[in-house]
Amino acid sequence: MTALRVLVSTSSFAKADPAPLTRLEQAGCEVMLNPHGRVLTEDEVVALLADVDGLIAGTEPLTERVMAERPQLRVISRVGVGLERVDLVAAVERGVRVFITPDALTDAVAELTLGAMLTVLRRVPEMNATLHAGGWEKKMGTLLRGKTVGIVGLGRIGKAVALLLQPFGVRVVARDAEPDQEWAEAHGVEFMSLDDLVGVSEILTVHASGRDCLIGADELSRLPADAIVLNAARGGLVDERALHDGLVSGRIAGCYLDTFEREPYDGPLRDMPNALLTPHAGSYAREARARMELEAVENLLSVLEDGRA
Ligand code: 8YV
Repeated sequence: MTALRVLVSTSSFAKADPAPLTRLEQAGCEVMLNPHGRVLTEDEVVALLADVDGLIAGTEPLTERVMAERPQLRVISRVGVGLERVDLVAAVERGVRVFITPDALTDAVAELTLGAMLTVLRRVPEMNATLHAGGWEKKMGTLLRGKTVGIVGLGRIGKAVALLLQPFGVRVVARDAEPDQEWAEAHGVEFMSLDDLVGVSEILTVHASGRDCLIGADELSRLPADAIVLNAARGGLVDERALHDGLVSGRIAGCYLDTFEREPYDGPLRDMPNALLTPHAGSYAREARARMELEAVENLLSVLEDGRA
């Protein structure tokens, strides 16, 4: 039996739990790990995919060119949910199967979002930085209780955030391209247009898919004064430059970003003490990563093992 060749491009694979790697090896796969320790470029993916049957994928570009140059590739199994960097049309045309792990990271991203919301509202990043630098300065923050929270994208993660918010006595308003009215009514969430939503959201949190800007300078300028903005979904959904301007002018009180237009991020928000920033680590809770990786491995093997002689 010839060994199946698998490339794993997620740089932290098997760090939370060795089981996914063991599973691949026990299934007789020859496994190649990402040698760069970061998101791969298109050229690097093409090079590394030589003779590879299946890819356990991170967020690298999986374009028409990648699939054209590596026609032996049979399956792309994402560790995660986003598909905006996978050319699905090319995959369908070439018969490459594509999978995601839809539910495994929901709690991890939702919990981090709630934590960040409370942290930014109470100005913890600023006080923490001051104290670490030798200072001692109390900052006046605000409560979450009683606020209006706008959720842009009420899918799996947006809904999980809405559920975590329930004990805080907030008003939750939402916008979604395909609104789940029944769920929203059952959980006291009010759908409205993006225009109306930005007018009332003292806390705006984005959980949509894609990379097209939804919250630009205009939307940011219409938020209530001292609003905070969070984006743990995808870079580009919130205009980073306009957000920076809003923080500099003081109209926006603080922000939390886990995802950026270009990653690794090296832009000016790093100089803003009221910007809480993390390196696209929304899913980095041990339990979530272990589940995502194992599900991705099972998805991959369901294709590769099928039809194996
Ligand atoms: C990354 C994510 O995929 O699910 C997604 O699409 O953004 C993340 O979970 C993951 O960190 C890459 O390993």
